[in-house]
Amino acid sequence: MKPETNGSKMPSILVTGGAGYVGSHTVLTLLERQGTDIDIVVVDNLSNAYRAQGQKQPEPIRIIEELTDKTIHFYDVDIRDKDGLSKIFEHHDIESVIHFAALKAVGESVQKPLEYYQANITGTCTLLEVMRNFGVYKLVYSSSCTVYGEPENLPINEGHPTGRGLTSPYGKSKYFCEEIMKDVCRSDPKWMIVSLRYFNPVGAHRSGRIGEDPSGIPNNLMPYISQVAVGRLKELQVFGNDYATVDGTGVRDYIHVQDLAEGHVKAVKLFHQPGFGGFHAVNLGTGTGYSVLQMIAAFEQVSGRQIPYKIVGRREGDIAENYADVSLSQRLLGWRATRTLEDMCADTWRWQHNNPNGFKK
Ligand code: NAD
Ligand code: WQD
Repeated sequence: MKPETNGSKMPSILVTGGAGYVGSHTVLTLLERQGTDIDIVVVDNLSNAYRAQGQKQPEPIRIIEELTDKTIHFYDVDIRDKDGLSKIFEHHDIESVIHFAALKAVGESVQKPLEYYQANITGTCTLLEVMRNFGVYKLVYSSSCTVYGEPENLPINEGHPTGRGLTSPYGKSKYFCEEIMKDVCRSDPKWMIVSLRYFNPVGAHRSGRIGEDPSGIPNNLMPYISQVAVGRLKELQVFGNDYATVDGTGVRDYIHVQDLAEGHVKAVKLFHQPGFGGFHAVNLGTGTGYSVLQMIAAFEQVSGRQIPYKIVGRREGDIAENYADVSLSQRLLGWRATRTLEDMCADTWRWQHNNPNGFKK
């Protein structure tokens, strides 16, 4: 491991996976919200982030530095590399960690379970071990509504059972990591872990300079729609219109990535609250669900582009409907999503339209 920038002994937040979609928006929000009194250290192995030839920083990080005029300490390190991580902890005064780094493609995880368990579970355990070795006990974890499996009731609150009927190694890895973190918190009262269960993140920073840039054909709805709108893909396949929902298509709780990013800033603030400790799982959603057809209509309205689509059979493992009970996030974090569906579509479209090929020029 070679440090790419000079270290500093300023109080720092370590962001794993900070060059990825949610991580980069959170890094930008941290820099916009915090004063100059905190350093951001990013660790990312670039397995799902782009660095242009000859550049030190991955593109999202380079652009964030440009937008904020601040320096980010970036390390091309895998979170399973204990020595590499330890050197970073030696080099910086890490106060807390926000842990995004993971593999996240549900379908791929069924084909490559060992790679997913290695990256997501071994990676998380290695990070927790290094944190403990350096006396750092504050962690915000990227979890997912996927840990709930098929909803037994809606809206889903954090008391809903988790881990039941999970079909993908990806989903199981998020559930197993939560269980591991609960045990770690039981073992030592110094730990403070906030596990944020995201619903469906979409959108981009309002600048249109950073956004979601999936490699290959997108698996998720919003990037698929926006690539159809920009002409990269011909037509959207709508997976099923025979669900017991408003119009038969799947309903999800889409949340603007900037709202999500602000939720992380609030979670980090909790660490300074007197008496705060232990493991806390918190939903991050809007509390409102939209169907696939409603998403298409909203995107067409905002972009002025038609989205050709065809109804096909259901996608294996899909659920009909899902949306969050957001009362705990309001109570515990003092946070709620403020951006509308129109904002989500407009910001996605600005990013996609300005960068039809994502970060690659
Ligand atoms: P992303 O792939 O854009 O970002 C993840 C980043 O982690 C990438 O930059 C990748 O290069 C890096 N990474 C992966 N494995 C690593 C490793 N072993 N060591 C170091 N870096 C590594 O994904 P995202 O959408 O930003 O998701 C971030 C987190 O949020 C993930 O943990 C994901 O499971 C979780 N999550 C995402 C969604 C979603 O729909 N985007 C929903 C719920 C939860
Ligand atoms: C949304 C809706 C599809 C694509 C996934 C993960 C989950 C979490 C969030 C990480 C569904 C429909 C989609 C397409 C379609 N990620 N659809 N045509 O499935 O809710 O959740 O991302 O933790 O774990 O499973 O999101 O965007 O894939 O689908 O009709 O080409 O759009 O059937 O109803 P999903 P999605």
